[in-house]
Amino acid sequence: MEYLKLNNDVEMPIEGLGTFLMTPAEAEAAATAALAAGYEHIDTANAYMNERAVGRAIAKSGIALSAEMKARAQAANALLESGEGAGNDFLGWVHLPSSISDAEIAAIEATAARLRSKADLVICIGIGGSYLGAKAVLEAMSDPFKLLHREQQEPTVVFAGQNISEDYIHALMEASKEHSIAAIVISKSGTTTEPAIAFRLIKAEIEARYGKQEAAQRIVAVTDKARGALKTLATNEGYETFVIPDDVGGRFSVLTPVGLLPLAVAGVDIAALVRGARQMEQATGTDIPFDENPSAIYAATRNALYAEGRKIEILGSYEPRLQYVNEWWKQLYGESEGKQGKGIFPASVTLTADLHSMGQYIQQGERTLFETIISVAEPVAKVVIEADKENLDGLNFLAGKRISEVNRMAELGVQLAHVDGDVPNLRIEIPQIDAESVGALLYFFERACGISGYLLGVNPFDQPGVEAYKKNMFALLDKPGYEEESKAIKARL
Ligand code: PA5
Repeated sequence: MEYLKLNNDVEMPIEGLGTFLMTPAEAEAAATAALAAGYEHIDTANAYMNERAVGRAIAKSGIALSAEMKARAQAANALLESGEGAGNDFLGWVHLPSSISDAEIAAIEATAARLRSKADLVICIGIGGSYLGAKAVLEAMSDPFKLLHREQQEPTVVFAGQNISEDYIHALMEASKEHSIAAIVISKSGTTTEPAIAFRLIKAEIEARYGKQEAAQRIVAVTDKARGALKTLATNEGYETFVIPDDVGGRFSVLTPVGLLPLAVAGVDIAALVRGARQMEQATGTDIPFDENPSAIYAATRNALYAEGRKIEILGSYEPRLQYVNEWWKQLYGESEGKQGKGIFPASVTLTADLHSMGQYIQQGERTLFETIISVAEPVAKVVIEADKENLDGLNFLAGKRISEVNRMAELGVQLAHVDGDVPNLRIEIPQIDAESVGALLYFFERACGISGYLLGVNPFDQPGVEAYKKNMFALLDKPGYEEESKAIKARL
């Protein structure tokens, strides 16, 4: 049984996610184990360990959640079900995991199989919520050195349309010449400029190579059921089309064909991903008491911290494969909460790499931060550090240990140091990086985001601020219909 714990007084059995914060007793035990394992080289942690104060150190980061905050979080969670909160026309994601049918998954897998049979390079075109979910899961599930293997088992999935870089698209088009290609073009609105530009180029390349008829077999669109230029284009060209439900916003759409189709093409077990999310949907429902609902606890905790002046949350992990989960999370929380002059600024680090860049700031910079660590209980692989006869590097004290043991002690040492440095720490543990755990993690964050946005008093499901740059860009580019704005903006230059 996995456990998810928060602070010192909340402990709950939950599948898929593990520990938030250790209790003092557990911290003490971990510290004792660390000392026994010879980790006296972790200075700050060692200081605590020697003083046997490790429990207190961690307890210091405990955030007392008032009964009122708990009740508000429960009420916010209930709004996600009742649909009586702001943005209630975008709540389709709440029950996506439990409502996706086997037939829908089979249809996505069938299309993925067609694309896989035709192409060894599938270009996935989209931006924001139409990009980050697939990218996050794909990076998490992939061998980071896949491209170094001479034999490729799965087609390579790459992304385009998430920027307007001429060099990026040029490099992609050049590299694609060495491959058979297919494309998935994703845009809910069907009018977003970045993916539209990329798709124009990639569509032309596919048509030039294979002819229009075959292009229609190699291009799949994921878009609105009726509206937008992409829908019109897909209908005219005869592309197979998957629908993004009206009531699911981009950043909550990873469990629709937006995320599932590219992931199925890449060989990810999407049924397992959905299964994990479904377990988390059950574990975070309104029938679950606050103290057992991980999303409610996380949402309430971060809001309590925000109220105390912690305006920046850093999400981090000691597994580089989770780096794009951080990016997905940043969009989810940044776009959902950053409005009306409010919101926790979502930042991220990948550890231990960023300890050598951001570590100094986190330890001693402005005390407006708190940190949430996604901790992975068990690596998939096993690598043991061997003893070395000469021991010139002085590392023989690690001989016989797995790399993951060192990583874990680094994590513990950093947590202690940061707590000591007055950076409250939350810890989310997943058993392993596999499709089911990642599915659970994504839904956990989505549900918490909805609750957290309501606690903050904003509509978590709109993004009015995103329009400002588009208006300026179109005016600067003389888009028809923007004549007045063009004149006004050019006068400012
Ligand atoms: O979360 C959102 O709604 C946005 O990030 C969108 O996903 C992003 O702007 C892309 O929009 P579209 O899918 O309409 O091209």
